[in-house]
Amino acid sequence: MTQVRKVIIDADTGIDDALAILYALKSPALRVEGITTVFGNVDVHQATENTLRIIRLANAPYEVPVAIGADRPLKRPPTGFSAHVHGHNGIGDAELPAASQQALTERADDFILRKAEELDGELFLVTLGRLTNVAHALAKDPSLTRKIKQVYVMGGAVQVAGNVTPVAEANIWGDPEAADIVFASGLDIVMVGLDVTMKTNLSMAHLDFLQRRCRPENREIVDFLRTSMAYYFEFYRQANHFVDAAPMHDPLTVLAAEEPGLVTNRTMRVTVECESALCAGMTVADLRPSPSVGTPVQVSIDVDAETAVGKLLSAFI
Ligand code: RIB
Ligand code: CA
Repeated sequence: MTQVRKVIIDADTGIDDALAILYALKSPALRVEGITTVFGNVDVHQATENTLRIIRLANAPYEVPVAIGADRPLKRPPTGFSAHVHGHNGIGDAELPAASQQALTERADDFILRKAEELDGELFLVTLGRLTNVAHALAKDPSLTRKIKQVYVMGGAVQVAGNVTPVAEANIWGDPEAADIVFASGLDIVMVGLDVTMKTNLSMAHLDFLQRRCRPENREIVDFLRTSMAYYFEFYRQANHFVDAAPMHDPLTVLAAEEPGLVTNRTMRVTVECESALCAGMTVADLRPSPSVGTPVQVSIDVDAETAVGKLLSAFI
């Protein structure tokens, strides 16, 4: 039996974040020490509300504290949110029962610092949104780099196109300065970007399978997934010509944090572009034979997508 991994999930709780959180709370191989929220798909208060409601839906067998984080980028003016991708409430306009707990008064960056200290090198961070909270935490205590075991970052694109600009992925584009600080910090980073998440698709057929086979206690979760994912599938039909399917950006990142063998990583020197108007938020990898520009991070370049999606579904069966 592999050791249970202790994780903090940092999320801008939209449709795929919600599924990632549900999976993490169902997985016996993960212990979710807390969830921190950040602006992104929706504003930080909606992301927090969604997170609290998702925790109730998951019926987790243990307490999961939620800490509210940044409501804007480090330096740039706030931009709009992604209602066209995630719906007005961030979860595909699905209605969920009111939360049964409240968020902490402790801020997200302080929560991350405290848990990293308490867990003494055992903590994994899984970031599913902008890296603003992690950048704030590093500004308060740069020694955080030595206290966190690994950071799995959903973000970036190295050998594939961006999804919000020709070259930038949404989570990095939404706060490039924060991503730059985190990537250059010396934290042990695994970048789970569009190179692998765009190959890991959930389809309506998978949801039909879940509807037939889910455990009775997961029936409400599956009903929620069918509503929220329908919204997501429609966006990906219009944007990417997918048929009743969508990429599992955030769920794959949680899965990789739990079972690293699902992705193949290559160490690359990466820089986050912060200057150019056209290329802001690009994760520039130095792919030359003798790379010298950027900080070494592990970049996921391949994925066993079939096993990843199978593992994702199995959590509810
Ligand atoms: O680019 C995909 C990422 O942007 C996902 O984390 C999605 O939830 C949005 O935050
Ligand atoms: Ca996200």
